[in-house]
Amino acid sequence: MTAGCLTRTRWHVTDNIAEAALRRIADAATQSLRERGCFHLVLAGGGTPRALYQRMPELQTDWSRWHIWFGDERCLPVDDAERNSLMAYQAWLHDSAIPAAQIHLMHAEWGGKSAAADYLDQLRGVGRFDVVLLGLGEDGHTASLFPGQTSEDAADALAVSHAPKPPPERVSLSARRLSDAAMVLFLVAGAGKRDAVAAWRRGAPIPAASICPLAGVDVLVAPECMAT
Ligand code: 6PG
Repeated sequence: MTAGCLTRTRWHVTDNIAEAALRRIADAATQSLRERGCFHLVLAGGGTPRALYQRMPELQTDWSRWHIWFGDERCLPVDDAERNSLMAYQAWLHDSAIPAAQIHLMHAEWGGKSAAADYLDQLRGVGRFDVVLLGLGEDGHTASLFPGQTSEDAADALAVSHAPKPPPERVSLSARRLSDAAMVLFLVAGAGKRDAVAAWRRGAPIPAASICPLAGVDVLVAPECMAT
């Protein structure tokens, strides 16, 4: 079981997660580009981020200096509708000005172990992420870090098998690598997440609570996920 950690968790209830996330990403990108000349963004999978990704082209930024990473990917063919990368391409990246070489795909179609090893290579020399986007599953999972699954946290990227959320085979960044970020934003919507949110708020060691960046995490959460 992934243990929780004592990181500052700031809760922001909003009925417009996409707008709230877009503003934060825009500010973080402006600062990173000014200070370091590049911006490294880790995308969340699942369905919640789609509305945000669809609005990303609104940003006025130097896309040529952006790098896109993925927090996790499902071991499916690249054109499978359930691929996290396909959702991101269809919603945003297909006509983005971000150089293709700076969109760092997890080659999960190769199988978990090969794809994890390849992502470790891609991440070599890459320091702290600027922004990490994450979702929350109804069981408290985040990325492809699921309850009860020991993740060899020594590696930055790991193969996941027997995931309870289909497909069973996945690739995920580890909690430690996801925590190596200047900003971590969780995007949480859907009444089905209410129990997971309540568990998180009472300190249960769910996988989402194992993400511990120095600056703490910000959870953009829809009203329906909050206990009444
Ligand atoms: C995945 C995601 C997963 C997702 C949550 C929330 O590959 O399934 O990375 O961690 O973020 O399950 O998914 P929804 O946004 O669809 O509720």
